[in-house]
Amino acid sequence: MKTSHYDMVIRGGQVIDPALGFGSVADVFLRDGKISKIAKDTESAKKDFVSIPVENIIDASGKLVVPGLIDMHVHLREPGREDEETIISGCQAAAAGGFTSICCMPNTNPIIDNQETVKFVLSRAEEADANVYVIGAITKMLKGEELAEIGDLVKAGAVAISDDGNYLQNPEIMRRALEYARMFGIPIISHAEDYFLCHGGVMNESFQSTRLGLRGRPAVGEEIAVLRDIRLCGFTGSKLHIAHITTAGAVEAVRRAKAEGIEVTAEASPHHFSLTDEAIGKEFNTNLRVNPPIRTKKDVEAVIEGLIDGTIDCIASDHAPHAAEEKDVEFDQAPPGMIGLETSLGLLKTSLIDKGYLSWADAIRKMTYNPARILKLPRGTLAIGSVADITVIDPEKKWTVKKENFRSKSKNSPFIGWKLSGKVDYAILAGRVVFKGKQ
Ligand code: DOR
Repeated sequence: MKTSHYDMVIRGGQVIDPALGFGSVADVFLRDGKISKIAKDTESAKKDFVSIPVENIIDASGKLVVPGLIDMHVHLREPGREDEETIISGCQAAAAGGFTSICCMPNTNPIIDNQETVKFVLSRAEEADANVYVIGAITKMLKGEELAEIGDLVKAGAVAISDDGNYLQNPEIMRRALEYARMFGIPIISHAEDYFLCHGGVMNESFQSTRLGLRGRPAVGEEIAVLRDIRLCGFTGSKLHIAHITTAGAVEAVRRAKAEGIEVTAEASPHHFSLTDEAIGKEFNTNLRVNPPIRTKKDVEAVIEGLIDGTIDCIASDHAPHAAEEKDVEFDQAPPGMIGLETSLGLLKTSLIDKGYLSWADAIRKMTYNPARILKLPRGTLAIGSVADITVIDPEKKWTVKKENFRSKSKNSPFIGWKLSGKVDYAILAGRVVFKGKQ
C-alpha cells in the first residue's frame, strides 16, 4: 500500500477552522512545517502514521485542534523595559496561552515610530516562540502632533498603526493618518478615550468611583472618541479598528456604523467582559487599574451582546506588563495595565462559553480568522499548504491561575487565584512544539 511521508500528526481531535467552515473530528498531518492533510476518515488515515516518529503523534482525542490563536493587542516592553517583558519572554507567555501570533504595540522606548525599531523588533522575534507582527505609531513619539513616516513603517513590516495608550486628539491629524493608512492598505487601531474627559481618571466614573473617592473616566469619554473616529473613517473611506471597547454606547456606535457600511471593526479584552468596577472596592488591587477602565454590569452585558451579534470581531488581551514595584503603590498611583496572554483563553471559556454566550467556533473565529483578516496576516487557518501554526486546547481542563506559573516576566494579573476552565495543551509554531501543557 502506498504511504506518504509526514512529520507529525495531531490525531482524533475536534478540528475547528472558522476560515474553512470546518468542524469535525479529524487527523491533522504536518509536513515541512505546513499543514499537509486533514483526514476525516481517521481509520484509513492510520496507514500514514508509519513514517511519523512516535513522539510526533499527538493524541488529541477529547481536545480541540484549532489554528494557532492570534492576539492582536499585546505590549512587549522591549526595547526599553526588558525588566518587565522581553520579546522572547512575551512570546513564551503567548505560547503558554495558546497564541502563535501576537501583534505588539508601539509604546516602547524608543517608540516604534521608525523603520529601525520595527526592524529591531522583527529581528529579535526571529528566534521567539511566536510570530510577532508590529503595529507602528501613528504619530512621532506618540505625541499626537506630527505623523510618523507611515509608508516607511509599512515598508519595514508594520501591519497597522496605532497611538495605543493615547487617543489621537487632533481630528485633522487623525484624518490625514486615515488617508495615509488607506493608501497603504492598513487599518488604524484607535485607543478611543477622549483625553480631556478621561485625563487623571483611574477607574470608571460611576457610583463606585464616588464611593471610593477615586477620580473616574466616564463612559462618554470613550463614546465621543469612538463616534469621532467612526465619522472620520466613513469620511475618508479608510479602515478603523476600535481597541478594547468597553461601554454600551461605544458598542452601539460600532453596531450602527457597521450597518451603515463603514469599515470599522472592534475588539474586546477578557478583563472587560469578566469583571465589573465593583471588584476594585473589594481589595484595591492595583492590577485592576487599566485603561480603558473596567466598567459596570450594564456595559459588560453590552460587550457580551456585541461579541454575540458580531459587532465585536476580535478578542485581544491588551497584555500590559508592569513591574511589581510600580504596581505596589496606592491604587491611583499605579500605572494602568494588566498581563493577559496566559489567562485569555481560560477567561473566554469560563466567562463566555460556559455561560452559553459563545460557541467554541465563534470564539475561535474571533481569535484566528477575524484578526488575520483585519490585519491581512498570512495566518489563522488550517488550510492545506498553510504554515502549521496550531493550538490544541483541553476544553474542560480546570486550573487555578498561579503567579509562579506565569511565563511572562511581569505578574500583574488580577486573576491570580481564579479557578478557570479550558487550557492549552499544545502550541505548535510552523510544525515545532513551542508549548506543551502538563498532561
Ligand atoms: O492599561 C493600559 N496599559 N492601557 C493602555 O492602553 C496601555 C497599556 C500599557 O502599555 O501599559
